Amino acid sequence: MKRSNVAELLSSDKFLQEVTLKGWVRTFRANRFIALNDGSTINNIQCVVDFENTDERILKRITTGAAVAIKGTLVESLGRGQNVEIKVSTIEILGDSNPEEYPIQPKKHSFEFLRENAHLRIRTNTFSAVMRLRSALSFAVHNYFIKNGFYNFHAPIITGSDAEGAGEMFNVTTLDIENPPKNEDGNVDRTKDFFGKTTNLTVSGQLEAETYAMALGKVYTFGPTFRAENSNTTRHLSEFWMIEPEVAFNNLDDNMDLAEDFIKSVISYVLNNCKDDLAFLDNRLTQEDKSKPAAQRNEMSLLEKLNFVVENNFKRVSYTEAIDILRNCKPNKKKKFQYLINEWGADLQSEHERFLVEKHFKCPVILFDYPANIKAFYMRLNEDGKTVRAMDVLFPGIGEIVGGSQREERLDVLKQKIDELNIDEKELWWYLDTRRFGTAVHSGFGLGFERLVQFTTGMGNIRDVIPYPRTPQNAEF
Ligand code: 4AD
Ligand code: MG
Repeated sequence: MKRSNVAELLSSDKFLQEVTLKGWVRTFRANRFIALNDGSTINNIQCVVDFENTDERILKRITTGAAVAIKGTLVESLGRGQNVEIKVSTIEILGDSNPEEYPIQPKKHSFEFLRENAHLRIRTNTFSAVMRLRSALSFAVHNYFIKNGFYNFHAPIITGSDAEGAGEMFNVTTLDIENPPKNEDGNVDRTKDFFGKTTNLTVSGQLEAETYAMALGKVYTFGPTFRAENSNTTRHLSEFWMIEPEVAFNNLDDNMDLAEDFIKSVISYVLNNCKDDLAFLDNRLTQEDKSKPAAQRNEMSLLEKLNFVVENNFKRVSYTEAIDILRNCKPNKKKKFQYLINEWGADLQSEHERFLVEKHFKCPVILFDYPANIKAFYMRLNEDGKTVRAMDVLFPGIGEIVGGSQREERLDVLKQKIDELNIDEKELWWYLDTRRFGTAVHSGFGLGFERLVQFTTGMGNIRDVIPYPRTPQNAEF
């Protein structure tokens, strides 16, 4: 007989059908009621065991976490909380789970404890909901770009250039670190290394994506990126996934339109397709809020927040306007910010970004036209000679979710910038070729996938939205 899954049985009304299903016991109560989950949905199906006619030794092995195979009949449920249940005819224990040893008992566990048990935390409601949403968002990302005429471009993960400047890099080497070959100057001789040169894990696929956009028109990358910064925050990972579209002939306004439309589209997708998981996470966040002091509570529930983002325009504000707002705002005047904003040119910290989004505008904000000297070399210089066509999308509770720009397409301006920053032009010969042959206005951005998952699920810590987080001093599993 074909094996059913819990999701389809819970929405079935074909009563009295014989079914077989396999899954894991969440709870077993009154020697009779199994709450069974198989990962297909956040909801469990109730399986009712005829305990009087079931071997005592089998009943004892129906414990939280055990894997079981069940044959039975789908019937209308008289109990509260479910419409259907399974009247069990046979139950087979596939894999025992000793209740004395199994860490995931049916009670509330802290996220810290679950992080230490990241291989088992996926068996909880919260993490299964988060990871199903992560999967749905990933699908929605590919779906959005393919539907809009983009090509998926796989950027290399090992890179020979380190000119992006997005962050510290992880070195890739096969040299014996105890005893590396040295050259005459006494330095490590990287010509003897695997690739014959220094290589690193990529911090961004952008520069390579630009070369592809200059032929395929619209491309996007969606892959892992690596940053060796010592940032221990709730929004930083050392390994994270980034989505980077790059579009020939798009200017900064087009780029902002794309970012806004893209984010709204993927959030709409999960609102329409992940209702049960979102309802669970919405309730989780509401409960969590109740235990917080009033000032720290969210003004909107998770679902309200997601709908708000989909239904409202993002506010577009220049860096210069933002600095005026920040310079004159209460927390700046009362010296409540850790970094006070005194003058134009200051780099914005997350406290400033969050003030703008959460307190001042109370909606997603796109900041643009930043000072050239706090942004990367490849951003297009404005006519004023001091700002560049950069944009950051800032989200409530998250801060920066997107960073992007219109790219400098003029060879002479780009070369001058590279010189000023002492970047080795030879290393970027292939990048500069795009400006030599058929250069054109083009733009793109990077969206941190985990920050999007955080926003969509309401999870407070980025370590809880990626299966096995990598952070400084932590690469377990
Ligand atoms: O702003 P970033 O550094 O931009 C770039 O790398 C550009 N090359 C992107 C482009 O234009 N194609 O990073 C982009 C986004 C950030 O806005 C943030 O959401 C995320 O990547 N991000 C991180 N997410 C988790 N952990 C980290 N350490 C992150 N660093 C950046
Ligand atoms: Mg950035």
